[in-house]
Amino acid sequence: MEGVFKHAFKDRPFPLLSKLFPSLFHVPEKVGHAAAMKAMFEEVVEEHRARQREEDQPPGDFIDVYLREMGADSTLTYHDLIGLCMDFFEAGGETVGSTMAWVLQYLALHQEEQEKCHQEIKDTIGEKVPTLEDKPLLPYCEATMMEIQRFACTAPASLDHKSMDDAWIGGYKIPKGKYA
Ligand code: HEM
Repeated sequence: MEGVFKHAFKDRPFPLLSKLFPSLFHVPEKVGHAAAMKAMFEEVVEEHRARQREEDQPPGDFIDVYLREMGADSTLTYHDLIGLCMDFFEAGGETVGSTMAWVLQYLALHQEEQEKCHQEIKDTIGEKVPTLEDKPLLPYCEATMMEIQRFACTAPASLDHKSMDDAWIGGYKIPKGKYA
């Protein structure tokens, strides 16, 4: 995994800038890290498949559950499974980590809010480990998380968006195929 991330940043240190000014950056023909991620997850899925054939164990993780459901539901494809694994690690890794870093910082700076969240957890679910089912019971905690995400702006650069057709936004023309 570490190798994949190192490779990703070596290949494309400034992904957005390199698209805007390709002549200033060396952009490889093939984005190596995506291919490396895909190959790695194909291997991991194969290991899960082999294990499931050998042992009749209960599912141990998301891939196990997905592989079992694939047999019963034809809309679940192998291709989507690899895509989902990549989402978890690429889209869901750094984003969740940065969000948690901001949450810790703001709760440390505003301890009265931390206390209110703590109190809500104690009053509604007590000492047990919270689960997703408890989420609707914790509106103050949820509002606090949302406010931190609004205030901290965890992903200011967002993703690249390419215009599928000529478009006008606020009086500016975005030609087809250009990044906005
Ligand atoms: C707090 C955590 C997260 C933050 C702050 C975050 C932030 C973002 C942002 C800003 C975008 C771009 C939206 C746009 O401008 O179109 C995005 C897209 C996306 N995120 Fe996240 N994300 C988070 C967690 C996750 C997780 C856990 C996953 C997957 C397991 C995920 C999967 C995706 C995918 C697949 C897209 C692209 C959606 C599309 O095709 O338009 N994200 N995310």
